[in-house]
Amino acid sequence: MAASLSSSFPSSAAYLLLMLTLAVCSHVGGEQESHRKVDVRSLFPDKVCSPSKGTASSNFTRLTVAHRHGPCSPLHHRQVLSHQQILERDRFRVDWLHRQISSSPTSATKVKVQPQDSAVEASAIPARSGSSLGVGNYVVTVGFGTPKRDQTVVFDTGSDVTWIQCQPCASYCYLQQDPIFDPSHSSTYANISCGSAYCSDLDVSGCSSSTCLYGVKYGDKSYTIGFFAEEKLTLTDADVIPNFRFGCGEKNRGLFGRISGLMGLGRNKASLVVQAYQKYGGVFAYCLPSTSSSTGFLTFGSGSYSSSSNVKFTPMLTDASSPSFYFLDLVAISVGGQRLPISATVFSNAGTIIDSGTVISRLPPTAYSALRSAFRQGMSSYKAAAPDSLLDTCYDFTGYTTVSIPTVALEFSDGVTMNLDFGGILYALSQSQVCLAFAANSDDGDLGIVGNVQQRTFTVVYDVSKKVIGFGPGGC
Ligand SMILES: *[C@@H]1O[C@H](CO)[C@@H](O)[C@H](O)[C@H]1NC(C)=O
Ligand SMILES: *[C@@H]1O[C@H](CO)[C@@H](O)[C@H](O)[C@H]1NC(C)=O
Repeated sequence: MAASLSSSFPSSAAYLLLMLTLAVCSHVGGEQESHRKVDVRSLFPDKVCSPSKGTASSNFTRLTVAHRHGPCSPLHHRQVLSHQQILERDRFRVDWLHRQISSSPTSATKVKVQPQDSAVEASAIPARSGSSLGVGNYVVTVGFGTPKRDQTVVFDTGSDVTWIQCQPCASYCYLQQDPIFDPSHSSTYANISCGSAYCSDLDVSGCSSSTCLYGVKYGDKSYTIGFFAEEKLTLTDADVIPNFRFGCGEKNRGLFGRISGLMGLGRNKASLVVQAYQKYGGVFAYCLPSTSSSTGFLTFGSGSYSSSSNVKFTPMLTDASSPSFYFLDLVAISVGGQRLPISATVFSNAGTIIDSGTVISRLPPTAYSALRSAFRQGMSSYKAAAPDSLLDTCYDFTGYTTVSIPTVALEFSDGVTMNLDFGGILYALSQSQVCLAFAANSDDGDLGIVGNVQQRTFTVVYDVSKKVIGFGPGGC
């Protein structure tokens, strides 16, 4: 962390002026409330799952989204990770994202691997070609093959190739909950040949007996390697994608938990979004639940969110060196209803992506320290608690049943404002350590990231065709 603790104390005249403005404006009272009362218990997930009732106008594909580590997860033997482990792995994800953006254009990242022995293959894949799964991930259950076999996968807007573990992989699969998919028992499985154009859609590919191979390596040295193949993908019983191209992973190693694999929702050719473009028009939407003891949804197609007309759209930007990522134009941050005095160039210089796999949002240090100062000012009646490695603004809520926290909003171009849910403002490690759920990048030049904690409860719509991203409050 470059930002030092001392920088947060009110020192500059500009800061005092801001606080004065805050005090005055909160009395003048516009539409914006400055604080919101929060039931402290609501910061902690229940031990049991209370699925949210879907507003299913169910002609649309609607998958149930659950946090993979919470009580609503379809995974029974969940990994129990400490908050430290979660935040540590969140760093891997962010480091990987930062390397992606700073690295050279995609043409240079295409890699051919030699399929000799698995160790050679894995080491042949440069780590930056893969992604980091992160840990704050959300899962859905979809069906592969004929007859259909359910597989619980993480969905990831930060990568493209969908993959699951496949038989035969006797000693090369990690333990997963669902039976491992066996392509030899499916009548719709087909290999893709090395000569196919689909094979060259992959960033990392190889060839074995003229069959196309894929490989993905993650930041923490986890990897998956296998055949790039076509198969029937069943999202819901009414919604089937024939000849869906995916990685049938016969050599998989790493910290994947009990999931079967991953669904890639990036913008490159291999992603589900692009493969099903004809069917869904490049549109998908999701809502991540407010806590892990509730559920959200993932839908595909332009009709999927039209019922929630409160969705407002901001431009989806593209970075030529990382065309798979979803960039946004973050222009300002408000605390307590007041816009912080951060120059818009602080955000535009770094750029900002929205990512389903990053937990805690990352900001340029200049923006973060302004946010932190205003937030601390608004929280001055609460006792400070020890910082965490990543989160440096924490409070002790011991003895409180409700707390009053400053509102925080992210503003994007075209007048789109995300008034964050309390779960997007505070990250509760324990009742005696509840922290501001944002962190600073180490450099103002590093990419900003809107993480999944901040996205909770919003309907987030991705429209690759119209090149817009939408946010609607109260989605789940
Ligand atoms: C779903 O589709 C069917 C057939 O196309 C139609 O009759 C029905 O009204 C639709 N239901 C909803 C809720 O849109
Ligand atoms: C796919 O290719 C692999 C390797 O060449 C082969 O073992 C397998 O039988 C093929 N599967 C089908 C369905 O062709």
